[in-house]
Amino acid sequence: MARKHFFLLAVTSLLICSAVADWNILHQRKKNNVVSGSGLKKYCESWRINVELNNIRGFEVVPQECIGYIGKYMSSSQYKADCERAIEECEVYLSSCCDSVKGGEGKDAWIFDVDDTLLSTVPYFKSHGFGGKKLNLTSLEGWMENCKAPALDPTLRLFHKIKGRGFKIFLISTRRESLRDATVDNLIKVGYHGWSGLILRDLSDENRRVQHYKAEARQKLVKEGHNIWGIVGDQWSSFDGNPKAKRTFKLPNSLYYVS
Ligand SMILES: *[C@@H]1O[C@H](CO)[C@@H](O)[C@H](O)[C@H]1NC(C)=O
Repeated sequence: MARKHFFLLAVTSLLICSAVADWNILHQRKKNNVVSGSGLKKYCESWRINVELNNIRGFEVVPQECIGYIGKYMSSSQYKADCERAIEECEVYLSSCCDSVKGGEGKDAWIFDVDDTLLSTVPYFKSHGFGGKKLNLTSLEGWMENCKAPALDPTLRLFHKIKGRGFKIFLISTRRESLRDATVDNLIKVGYHGWSGLILRDLSDENRRVQHYKAEARQKLVKEGHNIWGIVGDQWSSFDGNPKAKRTFKLPNSLYYVS
């Protein structure tokens, strides 16, 4: 009898123990899975937002563990909504900023970046590892030569609104002079026309920091008497330095950093 009781007790405690152990293991496993899944997502989203805030600078590649996340974001309707919102804010500014702008031979200017502002390079990066590999300029420029870059639709709409308001539009790009024909063809093909200047990098600009090259291009516009009302771009190096525009509008870009 005592033996039987002991046996029962032993079996019961074994069951309880294993139940507790099982529960613990399951619980832990589940918890760990959730933590690592959402932990990674949080990590990658905070990497992305800190790139946008210009806290993370000069990155050469997207962190390996975030390539999937960044690829998804840059192909998502969220990225499109973020671009749309930035452009809408620009339109709000446009509706109140510039009543003095008359157009014609005026000196009121607006500046745009080209890549990932007027034209999208997302299709290129989609087939080249979404920023996870070091940029191969030869390959990217080969793709640009094909003039297949689509327009960013909200920016295309804004471009024509700004032009309609009588601003002169200047495009300042880090693309090289050798890409001028391809760039013009591509821009016209997707619906851009009527800009006042397309400023590209010549050989002497190639070893300079982009920020200095772009600031100098603005300096030249100001010396010619232009009033720079706004800049729309996807890189901080498009806004930094003097002279400044009255307002700048940053479009998201987690694929590459130009400094
Ligand atoms: C860069 O791209 C070019 C053209 O596609 C290719 O020939 C070259 O091997 C690539 N370089 C590297 C380092 O991947």
